[in-house]
Amino acid sequence: MAFDTIIRGGTVATASDTFACDVGIAAGRIAALGADLGSAGEIVDATGRLVLPGGIDSHVHLAQPSVPGIVMADDFESGTRAAAFGGNTMVLPFALQRKGQSLRQVVNDYHAKADGNCHIDVSFHMIIADASDRVLGQELPALVNDGYTSFKVFMTYEGLALSDLEILNVMAVARETGALVMIHAENYDAIRFLTDRLERAGKTAPAFHATSRPIPVEREATHRAISLAELVDVPLMIVHVSNREAMEEIRRAQQKGLKVYGETCPQYLVLTARDLEGLNMEGAKYVCSPPPRDAASQQACWDGLQQKVFSLFSSDHCPFRYDDPHGKLVPRGRTSFRWVPNGIPGVETRLPILFSEGVGRGRISLNEFVALTATNHAKTYGLYPRKGTIAVGSDADIAIWDAAREVTIAQSLMHDGTDYTPYEGFKVTGWPIATMVRGSFVVRDGKLVGAKGFGRYVSREKSPLAVPAGRVPLV
Ligand code: URP
Ligand code: ZN
Ligand code: ZN
Repeated sequence: MAFDTIIRGGTVATASDTFACDVGIAAGRIAALGADLGSAGEIVDATGRLVLPGGIDSHVHLAQPSVPGIVMADDFESGTRAAAFGGNTMVLPFALQRKGQSLRQVVNDYHAKADGNCHIDVSFHMIIADASDRVLGQELPALVNDGYTSFKVFMTYEGLALSDLEILNVMAVARETGALVMIHAENYDAIRFLTDRLERAGKTAPAFHATSRPIPVEREATHRAISLAELVDVPLMIVHVSNREAMEEIRRAQQKGLKVYGETCPQYLVLTARDLEGLNMEGAKYVCSPPPRDAASQQACWDGLQQKVFSLFSSDHCPFRYDDPHGKLVPRGRTSFRWVPNGIPGVETRLPILFSEGVGRGRISLNEFVALTATNHAKTYGLYPRKGTIAVGSDADIAIWDAAREVTIAQSLMHDGTDYTPYEGFKVTGWPIATMVRGSFVVRDGKLVGAKGFGRYVSREKSPLAVPAGRVPLV
């Protein structure tokens, strides 16, 4: 058989194995793995390189409307471009609903933003902010059947937070339709209480964002979310976990046999609340929720990754420009941390940080790295085995890595739409040097070689992880 491309001489790693072999690619798919594969239109020399499944970042925010006056720094073009430079072949952004909006219309609006503009493949989770009868009874089940098989709900944020009753109703629809619920677990009332008191005390600098959302805020909401999911007998993904107490809530649920899954992110491994203390609003660069915490919490997140309490490592890329009145330096933000937009960029740095700090320092194996950054995302969100692995028949979504390349992360190296990286000056060893989506290079030798619009929308299956445990008959 003649292939379109053969990647020759590399070391291939999947979530389970590491082996020397060539990869034969035909019609965008992996057609053969082995030695002496024969001829191809192009032979790519990967001698001395790692050949890994392209990263799937299942938690990113692109072109998401914010409060009036605030503009997200990435659209689908710049966000997927940066993701590709960071070794990713697919991202899953959120289609965010506002109260009163039709969920179907929201999804259509996101398609209008994404379709024809992406460099790598994309699929959407939905965000349910309006748990009305119409949305839950009609729109949501129809959308799940159409391949939008996961959605996020918020326990905090003005205009987004759902009440416990609403969360239960949403979870019941997930159980009936087979969708996977993701949850942002922070106690909204506790944050409001603390924020009001901090403001009255004149403690309004960005650093107090972390003070307003201490660990109990996250731990309580995590416990409550798990309890609500247990009542409904619905699987639950707790996203962006930042500390030991929340991690232990998830572990305890897993040990009880509940289908509760966890995700953590680079900011909880390498940043701390001290980063929010920068002078002259510099701390705004690190304002995200939950906030980065301390060294003990970083260790807890490593424990959660190593002990498989967390199955996903995502970026929660939520980009705002820093030096911009429509971004982190919105004028109202100087009056209180309350108004500083929440979220930090990271889609391009997620993989190098985990590779360097995890694989490079012996905290996780190369196979665990692949699982945490690609395979588990595909399995969790109904994309496997089409995506997330190197296997015959899978899409040829591949990142070629130079495991020895030393890079000092700097904004000048980034390709997203922001004007800063929270990881400026952070040194990593290991860098993706080429990214291929469905057999075509998108990034090669440090250059963007793929065309905008090559990235496609991918409709998803229902996740096998979303099947209820069958513990409780829902009356
Ligand atoms: O601060 C954060 N994480 N912003 C992004 C939105 C979210 O909650 O994931
Ligand atoms: Zn969130
Ligand atoms: Zn997020």
